[in-house]
Amino acid sequence: MAFTPGTTALRGRLLTFLRAPQGPGDRDSYHHIADGLVVVTAGRITAVGEAADLLPTLPAGMAVDHYPDSLILPGFIDTHIHFPQTQVIASYGAQLMEWLEKYTFIEEQRYADHAHASRNARFFLDELARNGTTSAVVYGSVHPGSVKALFTEAEARGVGLVAGKVMMDRHAPTALTDTAQTSYDHSKALIGAWHGVGRQRYAVTPRFAITSTPEQLEAAGALLREHPGVYMQTHLSENHEEIRQVARLYPEAADYLDVYDRYGLLGDCSLFGHCIHLSEREMARMHETASVAVFCPTSNLFIGSGLFDRAALENPVRPVRLGLATDVGGGTSYSLLRTAGEGYKVLQLRGQSWPALAAFDLMTRGNAAALGLTEEIGQIAPGRYADLVVLDPSATPAMAHRREAIQGDVEEELFLLMTLGDDRAVQATYIQGRRVHDRD
Ligand code: GUN
Ligand code: ZN
Repeated sequence: MAFTPGTTALRGRLLTFLRAPQGPGDRDSYHHIADGLVVVTAGRITAVGEAADLLPTLPAGMAVDHYPDSLILPGFIDTHIHFPQTQVIASYGAQLMEWLEKYTFIEEQRYADHAHASRNARFFLDELARNGTTSAVVYGSVHPGSVKALFTEAEARGVGLVAGKVMMDRHAPTALTDTAQTSYDHSKALIGAWHGVGRQRYAVTPRFAITSTPEQLEAAGALLREHPGVYMQTHLSENHEEIRQVARLYPEAADYLDVYDRYGLLGDCSLFGHCIHLSEREMARMHETASVAVFCPTSNLFIGSGLFDRAALENPVRPVRLGLATDVGGGTSYSLLRTAGEGYKVLQLRGQSWPALAAFDLMTRGNAAALGLTEEIGQIAPGRYADLVVLDPSATPAMAHRREAIQGDVEEELFLLMTLGDDRAVQATYIQGRRVHDRD
């Protein structure tokens, strides 16, 4: 059944970011309206302002969803998540290479079965909605059918995804490998069928350098050259053993990033998961090519990979573009609130901390900017899709109790939400003006 966008209005405390906050207390980086109204026409935001000004302009009888005590933000965007790992999350005791072999490469084989892929696509999208995530950049399994199932379900729900079938032609079980040629053919067919169809976009997805032969990375580069505007996603510099293996497999490359560079995989539509152990040369090259480093804190802690160095990446002399992501199932939560809370702790261990304003900007506008999609998502502003999340800062007794001491300071409230909040704090989620999750 086709999705019907909503025509409606939401009233409550509106918060949207205008640019990256420069630090704590940067009040010019966001717009907060204590009693605001978002007006939605056919799925798009058509007006934003004071409720007192806009309510009289609404057509007679238009429903208004009123959230007097809650914060209405742009829906969260997850820039790195694995759809076939919903039943891998919380697998015990291994670091990256063993975790892949022991758990992930076993589970992903089940996605050869279309019924399994469809059922789990429904679960996956339900879970994103429950956590206030309204767009995501997604790895499928190696099977093109897994991505077809996911795009089909997303489009039926009006959800905009960027997704791709994993390309892997070595160092994985036979049942999970393609070849350079079939990965090219299947990816190309998926691009033709889905890229730019409705809200869906394609990402060419070589899993990482270890599971691709040079011929396959060549094929990935060819796909990008032949289809401008298509994204590229892969993993980079997550784990020390991984980095050593890459150096053995690609001795001619200067470093890990250079492997991808040699095949034309860098650029402003390229997303690199993890980026924990990069050299100065690699960061400078990411800056030069406008490539994006995606911070996946719960995954980095859970798989024991290391501590993301935000300050080094954001060096003002050569800033690298950043994204934030859950990386489920290496990551341990679908919630971007939890993800930001763990990100704060990772950066604390680096002696860096992380202002709540910067974290919430990244979850919304910043991640949209990482995808080049700020004209569509990530802000509450006219013309954008009405993909929204309603957050309850008093969701649990501990949150309500802490909040008593905050007395309405927005920044402190955001920090409370990212430190103590999770799916329980997501009161409602809207896709194109339709409420798709209602906690209460
Ligand atoms: N590196 C290659 N594949 C994966 C994956 O599925 N998860 C994580 N965290 N790292 C990877
Ligand atoms: Zn990943």
